[in-house]
Amino acid sequence: MSNAFLSIENLTQRFPAGKGESLTVFENASFGIEKGEFVCILGHSGCGKSTIMNILAGLAEPTSGAVLMDGKEVSGPSLDRGVVFQNYSLLPWLSALKNVTFGVAARYPEWSRSKVVEHSTQYLAMVGLEGDTIHRKPAQLSGGMRQRVSIARAFANHPKLLLLDEPFGALDALTRGTIQDELLKIWSGTSQTVFMITHDIDEAILLADRILLMTNGPYARVAESVEITIPRPRKRDQIIDHPNYYAIRNHLVHFLATRSKELAGQQTGSDSNTPQTVRIDLVEETKGDESDDPRHGAHLRAVNE
Ligand SMILES: Nc1ncnc2c1ncn2[C@@H]1O[C@H](COP(=O)(O)OP(=O)(O)O)[C@@H](O)[C@H]1O
Ligand SMILES: [Mg+2]
Repeated sequence: MSNAFLSIENLTQRFPAGKGESLTVFENASFGIEKGEFVCILGHSGCGKSTIMNILAGLAEPTSGAVLMDGKEVSGPSLDRGVVFQNYSLLPWLSALKNVTFGVAARYPEWSRSKVVEHSTQYLAMVGLEGDTIHRKPAQLSGGMRQRVSIARAFANHPKLLLLDEPFGALDALTRGTIQDELLKIWSGTSQTVFMITHDIDEAILLADRILLMTNGPYARVAESVEITIPRPRKRDQIIDHPNYYAIRNHLVHFLATRSKELAGQQTGSDSNTPQTVRIDLVEETKGDESDDPRHGAHLRAVNE
């Protein structure tokens, strides 16, 4: 685990909850993410996803435990980590364009002003923002537009690690589809690593190599790591025909509907909580099977790391 590009080791987060009591959001969470991996995390509201992301970004300190990136402990923000927040958080006094150029100029200090502007404009266009719009301040933009500026700002900086907290939640379905495609294009053309929080199961299956499943809090755990055994490139209108699609989807829905509650609140003391690897592959299972039905004889397998 400690060899992973991103290594989360025994992370515990407690918050004061009045009267000297404390709320344990999660305890001894441990998992790793490989370089270039695209990992999504699913879990009910309040289980601690944004808290984990803020710690990965270096914007919050855990109560105990550590995060290592490239073998170095994460402490404080860095241009190597690009964040898209749930509430977009743009600088309100700067135009959309300047919100992007601000970071790009810091990331590439050797670039000329015109190159910085050209690069930033290109990323804004990629998320559908062009013309006069990019000179408007955040208050003059719709929620969906602000979210797109925030996405352009993170992508334009080419961070080693992209941290995305429900980035597409405020977007209409058409824009969301376009930006998901752009994200996949950028990711597959670079060695960037992506950690993304989403509540959209289909989005997670379309995008991720692996989906981490979190139980409800308090004492939430990353209980499972589900491999997405659907080959890339994936197209949203084609993956639904893949034999593994509904098996994976059903597993995720069942976890969120039932098991996230059943497994909730289990205090496990000092043990390190690593997720169980779940690999669902009906194609692999039926290889050499003489049945005409591709699902014949298939069952779900859980494999421990
Ligand atoms: N700064 C804070 N102080 C106290 N409690 C907090 C703080 N940040 C988050 N929490 C609590 O921690 C839990 C997890 O929050 P969060 O990480 O935002 O969940 P999620 O993103 O999964 O919806 C919630 O119960 C929330 O109220
Ligand atoms: Mg959140």
